[in-house]
Amino acid sequence: MIALGVETSCDETAAAVVRDGRDVLSNVVLSQAAMHAPYGGVVPEIAARSHVEHLPGVIERALQDADLSWDAIDTLAVTYGPGLASSLLVGISASKALAQRLNVPLVAINHLEAHVYSILLDPELPDFNDLSPLLVLLVSGGHTLLLRVHGLGRYEPLGQTLDDAAGEAFDKGATLLGLRYPGGPEIERAAEGGNPGFVDFPRGRQKKSTGRIAGLDPDCCFSFSGLKTALLYYHRDNPDAPLPDVAASYQEAIVDALVDKTRRALNGARALAAVGGVALNTRLRDRLNELANEAGIRYIPAGRAYCTDNAAMVAGLAGAGQGIQGEAAQQIDAAPSLGLGSSTAP
Ligand code: KG4
Ligand code: ZN
Repeated sequence: MIALGVETSCDETAAAVVRDGRDVLSNVVLSQAAMHAPYGGVVPEIAARSHVEHLPGVIERALQDADLSWDAIDTLAVTYGPGLASSLLVGISASKALAQRLNVPLVAINHLEAHVYSILLDPELPDFNDLSPLLVLLVSGGHTLLLRVHGLGRYEPLGQTLDDAAGEAFDKGATLLGLRYPGGPEIERAAEGGNPGFVDFPRGRQKKSTGRIAGLDPDCCFSFSGLKTALLYYHRDNPDAPLPDVAASYQEAIVDALVDKTRRALNGARALAAVGGVALNTRLRDRLNELANEAGIRYIPAGRAYCTDNAAMVAGLAGAGQGIQGEAAQQIDAAPSLGLGSSTAP
């Protein structure tokens, strides 16, 4: 089964072709990062306009790279949320029209579930059923989630951020330090050779809380807004502190918080996975690897090509039989605040 995937939830215009949910035949991603960099973050109007302009070319390129013609496509999968409403709408409208034109079924995919699925794009891995219970740390520009996966489409949320996402902490921190957007790779580069113990930034620990937070375990929830404020004041009071040391200390504080909460959530997991754009961070990958080794479980970081937003994870998840299908998919609307587990096939 050959699925064409379309992903336009934020500032990447992406299309990909995946066979049988696992075999990536092409994966085209056009990043708009340079367009948004002058503004220090994604500007929704610019993002949507650029998707309109570039999506047709990106889809054609995905087909060419896969060396396939239109009639080889069996199904069309598109992200319908969460994300920026205006950006999601571009992909959804284009995919509805294209699915009708090609006379193939449309499948509406949840972006968070697609990120979780991204680890399975390595054809060497067994499927979720053989890895579960699998603990997944999903860390991106918009989300920070810890969840347990019990099988395909069976997600148990354990914790989430109470304020900023981990990627946002990198992006906002970079802006404060005068670095470009997206901030994650910039901070990682600036931190090279720096001393991570130079500044003792806060690790975002919760006060001992008695109750659960929206049904989640407070021990597995994150908070990054205090860290960002600490950087603001530190930088204001120490403008001449060496950038590598400050960047390394800031990165270490984010990574420490992520690893600490992940450790608390490990209980009973057979494997640990990290997905989303921040999972590209080498320091985080190394620390999670150590954690999994200590716990004696398998560590599965998403492939580097599948951490940041891409359409291979969207086509892959549809190929695995997940997502909203049939008439409900043709009627689908953008769902900017969609949560995990809300597009599981009945
Ligand atoms: O998954 P993604 O492409 O988009 C969302 O779904 O949000 O993640 C983008 C985020 C940005 O915040 C970016 O700064 C962060 O991933 N990121 C990184 C690195 N590369 C990208 N964060 C830390 N270290 C990196 N090397
Ligand atoms: Zn994403």
